[in-house]
Amino acid sequence: MVKFRVVVTGKILPLALETIKQHCEVKAWDDPNKPIPTETLQEWLRDAEGLYNSGFAHINDALLAQTPQLRVISQPSAGYDNVDLAACTDHGIPLGNTASALTETTADLAFTLLLTAARRITQGWDMVRSGRWQKSSDIPFGIDLYGKTLGIVGMGAIGSGVARRAQACGMNIIYHNRKPRPVGEFQGTQWVPFEQLLSQSDCIVVLTPLTAETRHLFNTNAFAKMKPSAHFINAARGAVVDTEALYHALVNNVIAFAALDVTDPEPIPGDHPLLSLPNILITPHIGSATPETRTRMAMMAVDNLLAGLRGERLPSCVNN
Ligand code: DGY
Repeated sequence: MVKFRVVVTGKILPLALETIKQHCEVKAWDDPNKPIPTETLQEWLRDAEGLYNSGFAHINDALLAQTPQLRVISQPSAGYDNVDLAACTDHGIPLGNTASALTETTADLAFTLLLTAARRITQGWDMVRSGRWQKSSDIPFGIDLYGKTLGIVGMGAIGSGVARRAQACGMNIIYHNRKPRPVGEFQGTQWVPFEQLLSQSDCIVVLTPLTAETRHLFNTNAFAKMKPSAHFINAARGAVVDTEALYHALVNNVIAFAALDVTDPEPIPGDHPLLSLPNILITPHIGSATPETRTRMAMMAVDNLLAGLRGERLPSCVNN
């Protein structure tokens, strides 16, 4: 049996690799400490039919122009801002992602950040652990979520999961997408213009994909329109936020608190100014980081890859 030729660009679940190897000859980049060099990727892709992009290598038109055999790109992630989607479409290459595999897990994380920020859990824990808790007046005070307004920017499956969790806490939900969605699509929530969401929300959760339009959507102007008591959560992509603007908004109490699962740059260096602030909490991009979910994502990406190699419709495709 002639096997398909596939390139794997980064860490891959052993079961996923085994499954791919049953049908394909694989060239895999397995240095966990550095990303695959562009020249290596170019060379490996020259005669490859499939790309399993677990290393999230940047894919652009120039690269695709040198991949005459490539039939499919599959990525074990929801986001695909590292890939030029229009170039894939122009070259007739379907791009598979795994959005539906991580919806509830990422909604859990986004809502965890909201609760943890609201109740100053990390400040309390730091105080206890460092022995600074000596009297009850020392304790950090947070905010109630009950009765507050949550603004979700980028309402989709994950946003709807966050909305359900927030409704269970008695929050009112407003949201903003580029276009209002049909009334009733997201039960009990209301679409509002972006500026209105900024000024009305007590808490904002960002879940929008990173695109040319959303890059630095949260900039100095946006922070200035928020309430000084606002709690700002980003579980989308770091570059949706202008990091310097966020730093100034937190230092000058333009907003009250930020909790981020994603940063720009990422990973954030240990000496970054944001890390010196008392009113921030940052987790290391763990939105989908549970074994069950990562396994689902890896195997769904294998299904996408194999379908594309066989010339079948991908179970989860972003450009067809
Ligand atoms: C995704 O799948 O896009 C998550 O952010 C993990 O990268």
